[in-house]
Amino acid sequence: MNDSLLVNSHISDYLSSLQPDLPEFLENLYQKARADRVPVIRREAQSFLRFVCLDRQPLKVLEIGTAIGFSSCLTAEFLPEGASIVTVEKDDARYGEACSNTAAFARDYEKRKNRSCPQIRCVKDDAEAFLKKLSADGGRFDLIFLDAAKAQYPVYLNLIRTLMNRDSILIADNVLQEGSVAESKFTVTRRDRTIHLRMREFIDMLFRSGEFNCMMLPLGDGIAVAKLV
Ligand SMILES: C[S@@+](CC[C@H](N)C(=O)[O-])C[C@H]1O[C@@H](n2cnc3c(N)ncnc32)[C@H](O)[C@@H]1O
Repeated sequence: MNDSLLVNSHISDYLSSLQPDLPEFLENLYQKARADRVPVIRREAQSFLRFVCLDRQPLKVLEIGTAIGFSSCLTAEFLPEGASIVTVEKDDARYGEACSNTAAFARDYEKRKNRSCPQIRCVKDDAEAFLKKLSADGGRFDLIFLDAAKAQYPVYLNLIRTLMNRDSILIADNVLQEGSVAESKFTVTRRDRTIHLRMREFIDMLFRSGEFNCMMLPLGDGIAVAKLV
């Protein structure tokens, strides 16, 4: 099934076919999310997240935008022992589903791998408010996955950079907005103009502030990857 928004379907299907299958629990959760129209991380972005987790073995992960917990579980699958994820969601119903999905995932993981699952702590809060609290606490994260309100990305980035150290990696999803971010603002509809403007602002902060070493990948709906310089 093609679920790329940027790449021709036969190419994206081929690329997906190269990836190992997800464990049954995760595949079922992904299919359920798609069937229920919950916007979860797409196949190509999943493989990128998997690669980063396996390669960098982050111990402390922050996710902004939990939805029903699919990407938290996916991330946990590839983290080292002793790692932990904290993930924030503002919607009551999704937060509730995420709590039960992540708990069920942990049971499945422990049965399959015969070792403790990385801890997944779901938090119900507004992302900006939660990021402010984390920033005030002075914590640092090895991996930050940004996947919440797209128009708030510039605001989030100002807070996220206080949670990064030199080795931290930031992954932001949906930065190309089905390719519309690459178009002139005059070609996007009035309804989409704010998001276009804010996403351009976010991309400028990453690429032109001199604070980040950054690259953009046309995977899924567009992924930005950044580290502090
Ligand atoms: C794209 S979904 C996250 C998908 C999830 N990361 C995954 O791949 O499984 C974005 C989520 O961010 C949540 N969200 C939007 N604005 C938010 C905010 N201000 N604070 C916290 N969560 C927010 C939405 O309710 C939605 O569930």
